[in-house]
Amino acid sequence: GRVAVLMGGTSSEREVSLDSGRNVLEALRARGIDAHAVDGIPALIEAIRGGRVDRVFNVLHGSAGGGEDGVLQGLLTALGVPFTGSDVLGSALSMDKIRTKQVWLSLGLPTPRYVRLAKGADVHAAARELGLPVIVKPSCEGSSVGVSRVFDDAGLDGAVALAAQYPGELLMEQLIVGDELTVGILRDGDIHRALPSIRIVPKGEWYDYHAKYVAEDTQYLCPGLDGAAEEEIRRIALAAFEAAGCSGWGRVDVMRDRASGRLYLLEVNTAPGMTSHSLVPKAARQLGIGFEELCWRILETSVG
Ligand code: DAL
Ligand code: MG
Repeated sequence: GRVAVLMGGTSSEREVSLDSGRNVLEALRARGIDAHAVDGIPALIEAIRGGRVDRVFNVLHGSAGGGEDGVLQGLLTALGVPFTGSDVLGSALSMDKIRTKQVWLSLGLPTPRYVRLAKGADVHAAARELGLPVIVKPSCEGSSVGVSRVFDDAGLDGAVALAAQYPGELLMEQLIVGDELTVGILRDGDIHRALPSIRIVPKGEWYDYHAKYVAEDTQYLCPGLDGAAEEEIRRIALAAFEAAGCSGWGRVDVMRDRASGRLYLLEVNTAPGMTSHSLVPKAARQLGIGFEELCWRILETSVG
């Protein structure tokens, strides 16, 4: 049937999504699949009305006009159009970093301590409660958009003002100083499997938007850890993914504290990047799964 590769949209991650979408489209076509690009949810609705969509490959990143927050999943579920990745619950929960952490904490899964910053909250008191350094984030953005690391009191107000430019709530998290890691998850028949972890070594201070998509000198080590530590990160990533109600495929971001070696879960991405810089394709390649094969397997997650 005809596959709509859903990309673009109006979220802050539009450009990243277009890049992901173009790669996926090319890979599906190379496999002989009748696939076409669709930019954003309104265009998808038109295409469905026109009878041009049998299933959706979703790489529309982000919320608020993105396709990662459950809204798209509700629409497609109601219309009976199959789509890749998580359903309404997993998508909506994972797009909200605060609520995801609450679920993980309730299950004893490790995640950095945090404070939800309501409007007018005393951010200096919040920072004192957590202890500097902290990281301030919009709760519902992706690709590190609107995120700042704060090392002294003087940086707090600017960090909060930046995060507040994006829709939704803000959170302040204890900054874990150490390694940035990520674990791709892919369904294999009836079960989900964790791919080898990737350790990200950015040239600059941290893995921000620039290090993610622009810099050519970010280093990626895969697998990211050795022996028992690698087993442990895959185990908690898989548990975190399933705890958040996710399915099909996704990517769980994790920090490893340099001093203690402890792992801390940050978030789940339910429509992870598929750009040439992106991480799930790198992890799949480590297992001998090339980009085309990966796209095929992700497409299969749209089947029941
Ligand atoms: N939010 C970006 C696309 C990612 O997680 O890869
Ligand atoms: Mg994210």
